[in-house]
Amino acid sequence: MKRANILIFDDDIFFQRKLGGTLTEKGFNVFTAGTFEEAREIFNNNYIDIVLLDLVLKEGNGLDYLPEFLKNATSVVVLTGHASMDSAISALKMGAADYLRKPVSEDTLLSTIEFILEKKKEGKEKEDVKAIKAKLERLELLDLISRAINSTNEINTLLKMALNLTSGFIGAEAVSLFLKDENTEELVCYLASGTKGDILEGKRMKKGAGIAGWVAENGKPLLVNDVSKEIRFNPEFDRMTGFKTRSVLAVPLRAMNRTIGVLEVINKKDNDKFTMDDQQLLYSLANHLAIAVENAKMTEELKRTNEMLEERVRERTKKLEDAITKLTETQNQLIHTEKMASLGIMAAGIAHEINNPMSFIQSNLTIIKDYLKDIKIEDREIKEEILTAIDESLEGAQRIASIIKGLKGFARADEGRLEEFDINQLIEEVLRMIWNEVRYKAEVIKELGDVPKILANRNQIAQVLVNLILNAAQAISTKGRIIIRTYLNGGRLCIEVEDTGCGIPPENLKRIFDPFFTTKPVGKGTGLGLSITLGIIQNHGGEIKVESEVGKGTKFTVFLPLSTERVRIGE
Ligand SMILES: Nc1ncnc2c1ncn2[C@@H]1O[C@H](COP(=O)(O)OP(=O)(O)O)[C@@H](O)[C@H]1O
Ligand SMILES: [Mg+2]
Repeated sequence: MKRANILIFDDDIFFQRKLGGTLTEKGFNVFTAGTFEEAREIFNNNYIDIVLLDLVLKEGNGLDYLPEFLKNATSVVVLTGHASMDSAISALKMGAADYLRKPVSEDTLLSTIEFILEKKKEGKEKEDVKAIKAKLERLELLDLISRAINSTNEINTLLKMALNLTSGFIGAEAVSLFLKDENTEELVCYLASGTKGDILEGKRMKKGAGIAGWVAENGKPLLVNDVSKEIRFNPEFDRMTGFKTRSVLAVPLRAMNRTIGVLEVINKKDNDKFTMDDQQLLYSLANHLAIAVENAKMTEELKRTNEMLEERVRERTKKLEDAITKLTETQNQLIHTEKMASLGIMAAGIAHEINNPMSFIQSNLTIIKDYLKDIKIEDREIKEEILTAIDESLEGAQRIASIIKGLKGFARADEGRLEEFDINQLIEEVLRMIWNEVRYKAEVIKELGDVPKILANRNQIAQVLVNLILNAAQAISTKGRIIIRTYLNGGRLCIEVEDTGCGIPPENLKRIFDPFFTTKPVGKGTGLGLSITLGIIQNHGGEIKVESEVGKGTKFTVFLPLSTERVRIGE
């Protein structure tokens, strides 16, 4: 065991030697001093376990020097000579460990010294145990917090948990956590405990402002036990909450070499002071927290990225589905067009085949009729009947001829020729042509826009107009309105024919463009009008749309490019 160091401060040389001799013999390291200067010199240069201090010195009262020796866990035993017990009691009150009366017996001296040394050892051990216990508790807290941190990815829960543990352990009245806004570099109060702490949540502090700002800027902890003397302290938050800050311990939250925020504990409980131990604890805690915050942020970012990706996949899938639907539609249309084309070829063939015999049937019937007028037949009744039969046949032939004409149009047997013309003028012409079929049925309203001339097949477009306007008139049972509009839209010419007629039931809408589809009585409708119309418009690179409501009316809209030069007409 290390031998104890004992300083004897007595200006009585004889006494010095006597006492010194006894103690040296017992194995102590003995220093002696006769003046205060000597004593101080020795005291400052050696670790002294016990000072034996004479109270009556030539230089003055030993009590005056007592405080000086009571530093560094040194124990002081005062020696009293002739003086009264009063000084001894004063010495004990001031912190002396014991007193000895001169002359000092050897036994008393040794037992006193040993007793003091023993007590000192015990005390020191107790201190050590206390320190180790405190360290253990701190380790336990860190472990607890880091486990809590790892058990949740939800940043808010995590921080609240950590803050509660922290303030409880350090013994602070309040805790605040600030996170740095990466764009503005301001500190944003993320969580604050303590009176009215919730007022502060979300509040911002300018870059560098306040104690937290300083800590964030410098990346170093700051311990302030009296904010009234601290110029970096910003009283603004206290003003908001009415809280009175006395002391602050603030540490930076650092992750990946960046300061991402600041953790602050405020007002050590019981008016105590924050210590370096507290600072160390808070600092290691902040390290754990910072990593956890970063992890949580990354998890959230990942989640967001994931959601974004999913959203994109959804969008793409939708686009693909749309594309597939469109493809299917196009395919159906192609099949339809193909069918129409072959039907067209067939119809053209039939029309051609029928056309010749039909014309001589017609002309022969006319000739027969003429001859019959001049021939005398006995039975006038029979003659009348024959004439009626011929008339009926002529009418039938006429009907066949007009169907053939329609078929030829459907088959686009007419050669197409492009010319520039004014659509509004064409509409007027067509209306004059079919005025007799329209006038009794409908009031015609023209809303013709100021549109440029188009380059198209004039005859074919006229046929489109005839078909649409006649259909409109035929859809009106007694009296209605037909509105014809022309205007430009998206660089295309639009022609609208709207009526207040019977409308088209939804189940028919898909079929009205099919050849021979008609809802009209035999002799009135051939079902070729819209089919021919569609063919013409498509050949012009245009489109036709229909909107209809049963009982209210129908609107056909034709879209035509202004110039159809690139489109081959009549093929
Ligand atoms: N404006 C309209 N209002 C109501 N129904 C219409 C209209 N236009 C066309 N339709 C319907 O479409 C069918 C086909 O028309 P279309 O091809 O012109 O042949 P058609 O007029 O000879 O019947 C018509 O029979 C009718 O049922
Ligand atoms: Mg028609």
